[in-house]
Amino acid sequence: MPETNVKICASHVGKAFRRDHRFIKVLDDISFSIQTGEFVAILGPSGCGKSTLLNMVAGLEPCEEGHIIVNEYHTDQPERHRMMMFQEAALFPWYNVLGNVVYGLRFKKGLTNAERKTIALYYLRMVGLDHFERAYVHELSGGMKQRVALARALAPNPQILLMDEPFSALDALTCEQLYKDVQKIWNMQHKTVLLVTHNVREAVVLTQRVIVLSQRPGKILKDLPIQLPYPRSVHDVSVSALANELINVLHEKDDVYNYASCT
Ligand SMILES: Nc1ncnc2c1ncn2[C@@H]1O[C@H](COP(=O)(O)OP(=O)(O)OP(=O)(O)O)[C@@H](O)[C@H]1O
Ligand SMILES: [Mg+2]
Repeated sequence: MPETNVKICASHVGKAFRRDHRFIKVLDDISFSIQTGEFVAILGPSGCGKSTLLNMVAGLEPCEEGHIIVNEYHTDQPERHRMMMFQEAALFPWYNVLGNVVYGLRFKKGLTNAERKTIALYYLRMVGLDHFERAYVHELSGGMKQRVALARALAPNPQILLMDEPFSALDALTCEQLYKDVQKIWNMQHKTVLLVTHNVREAVVLTQRVIVLSQRPGKILKDLPIQLPYPRSVHDVSVSALANELINVLHEKDDVYNYASCT
């Protein structure tokens, strides 16, 4: 692919945090590039620096060693073409579902209130919540809250979606339903998505490529393309085979880490 299609480029990125008068190295020599429209997972054990890396791509955390380029510019602050989704939906309880998604459109200039509402309803329909626009946060299940968060992130039509373990607090059945919906949405929109997860099957089911990090300090152990067609399910034999391959990579390099609970 031509170089101009590169949306996110990390080059020799390192990061250390200061704690108790010493520096703790969190990320070590991370280099990768992500093409426009790619859906990529960053997979790794707890504490290996996944969120730190995502925050650096988001411009929320400074990059001290190496550099990260997004849209051909160095990232040093958050911008509206990058939207984030977290483990907690972080919705406003005083707004209803529609109000929360409309809030995501507050920076979109030149839209009337009616247009904002139309856009919000379109994305609520996309995430399967079209009859819940008047519901309040306390009336929603965990999965529904994450659907609202997804609609809110998508509504401003960002170029890049950054997701930090958005499904990790949900039960297995809810996750499976959301995986189906995310696949459907990605098929419709082909956004550039960077998903941080410690769940091996989730990475294989959703993405086109999995970048595996070692334990802290996170280094890239493997960059594995996932060439399975959508729709994929966690129950597919081919998904299990690739998940096992990734688990073996993690076990080979990080023999103390037990990945059994994450599969
Ligand atoms: N602002 C900070 N100041 C000091 N240390 C930090 C800071 N942010 C993260 N760390 C440390 O950096 C390491 C990596 O944290 P990070 O949150 O990136 O890990 P993670 O891979 O996302 O873990 P998890 O899967 O549990 O969310 C941890 O040891 C954490 O304590
Ligand atoms: Mg994290």
